[in-house]
Amino acid sequence: MNHKISKPTPTPTPTSQSTSSSDSKLLDRLDDDILKVNQLRGSFKTSPSHSIETELHLESTSETIADENWQIASEYYKNIDTKAFRQYELACDRVRQFYEEQHEKQTVAYNIQARINFKTKTRAKMTVWEGLERLNKLLDDSDPDTELSQIDHALQTAEAIRRDGKPRWFQLVGLIHDLGKLLYFFDSKGQWDVVGDTFPVGCKFSKRIIFPDSFKKNPDFVNPLYNTKYGIYSKHCGLDKVMLSWGHDEYMYHVAKKNSVLPAEALAMIRYHSFYPWHQELAYSYLMDDHDKEMLKAVKAFNTYDLYSKSDQQYNVEELKPYYLELIDEFFPNKIIDF
Ligand SMILES: [Fe+2]
Ligand SMILES: [Fe+2]
Repeated sequence: MNHKISKPTPTPTPTSQSTSSSDSKLLDRLDDDILKVNQLRGSFKTSPSHSIETELHLESTSETIADENWQIASEYYKNIDTKAFRQYELACDRVRQFYEEQHEKQTVAYNIQARINFKTKTRAKMTVWEGLERLNKLLDDSDPDTELSQIDHALQTAEAIRRDGKPRWFQLVGLIHDLGKLLYFFDSKGQWDVVGDTFPVGCKFSKRIIFPDSFKKNPDFVNPLYNTKYGIYSKHCGLDKVMLSWGHDEYMYHVAKKNSVLPAEALAMIRYHSFYPWHQELAYSYLMDDHDKEMLKAVKAFNTYDLYSKSDQQYNVEELKPYYLELIDEFFPNKIIDF
């Protein structure tokens, strides 16, 4: 199926909004800026494994998938020069403005409504690969100056994971983790409910979230139901029960959970990959259950590839396509997916 979309046009369903090309350009640029800021923050951390157990006083649990070496950090990325990513200063103003809006608008009420919208509508029916192509065209055509497209980032992440000999499900996560950005062309309200770091709503906003002062404008900040340590949750209730701010991660997690046979680790990588306050700053440990301790290791293992594979070579999409079509079929048995 050929998607010839010359400009971001009104989206494929009657429920969608129209998105102008300059909007899409902004989304892509903003997303790059956010990435740079997160790379910088990550570069302060000592190592990919970062003594998670010590910081959170975690004990290891036995329940994990039977697999060999997928959690071991890549030697390749240990030697990367993180200073190369320090062009973040220019990015900072845009990123700060973005987070001011996101932190004000991601309320419990908005999040409930977003989930109702998600469950009561089908935005598009297509294969995973068609989804990648559509995202690529929509964002690419809106920004001819961008050197790397969405599909490049997807393939670079997946190929880096594959090169390190990680399991096939892990490679597929690399390919599809950002596919939820399609949301921007469906029924998002702006950039603030598609990209950016995520965080729990319904309980006190952690000081470890980037630009924490901007939550003062969020109505939930002064709501006694939502502004205590546990808020609507309970101690060690598990992140499964926690509502994370709505965006491409949460959206794609629900799509993948419903339509794929990916293991829990893969679903966690998709759901939590922008949850930097948790996987990088180690906030919200008091909401975690034993299962989340294992998931945190998985998410951290994935994060290195998400952050640093953008510096890699560009791949030939047509050459790699057969390999990834087979990989998609292995984990998404019903080829046509409700997005
Ligand atoms: Fe992402
Ligand atoms: Fe990504």
